[in-house]
Amino acid sequence: MSKIELIITNNYEEMSQKAADIFINLLKKKPNSVLGLATGSTPIGLYKILIKKNKSKEISFKDVITYNLDEYCNIPKNHEQSYFTYMNKNLFAHIDINKDNTHLPLGEGDSKLNSEKYENELNKIKIDIQLLGVGSNGHIGFNEPGTDFDLGVHEVNLTENTIKDNARFFENDISKVPKKAITMGIKNILNAETIILIANGKNKANAIKNIMSGIIDKNIPASALNLHKGKVYVIVDKDAASMI
Ligand code: GLP
Repeated sequence: MSKIELIITNNYEEMSQKAADIFINLLKKKPNSVLGLATGSTPIGLYKILIKKNKSKEISFKDVITYNLDEYCNIPKNHEQSYFTYMNKNLFAHIDINKDNTHLPLGEGDSKLNSEKYENELNKIKIDIQLLGVGSNGHIGFNEPGTDFDLGVHEVNLTENTIKDNARFFENDISKVPKKAITMGIKNILNAETIILIANGKNKANAIKNIMSGIIDKNIPASALNLHKGKVYVIVDKDAASMI
């Protein structure tokens, strides 16, 4: 069985609050924390809570450093669906963070060089908490099923499943969804001190069941969390826990 700490909540709001509490405690203890951040629809509620706590001055991001998991390739950095835009819109623009302390892989240009550059940056730091969502196929970051767990930052071809899942952000038009992305590898993710994976909804239930079974299988990327030496929290709502 997995040594992951599973927290099942009643709904999305509670899931977001539980995850936020862990970040808030860390930021109070260590104002210069290094945070690994994620995109997607799942973290929005958590980011809203962090923004509120920052506005009420309970926490500050003044000395916080952030590294994001991934970015789409072949769309401009300022594209409305780039993860760079997402982070600004959903978090950075609303908190007292120094933008120079925020890092995302670059999706434009030479992916090999961009991957090497991000890998070098990550190798110089230690992430205190890495936040993760999970794809319905069990992907974390953009590490799709079949990815070797010892890969660092790399370019990926998105699977049909992921392209379909993410089409909702691109006017439900599959042809508009980028087909490639650049992502932290599972090796980079497992380097974090603490990992928090959040998930809600029935379409995540199978992925959560697989993680919690304790299996370690490269066809289920999130199962790599069972290899983590530090603390791992899986915080889910009832629907995402419905197959455990
Ligand atoms: C994307 C991101 C992942 C994210 C996943 C789930 O593919 N690259 O980091 O966890 O989607 O997204 P959502 O939270 O919208 O379900």
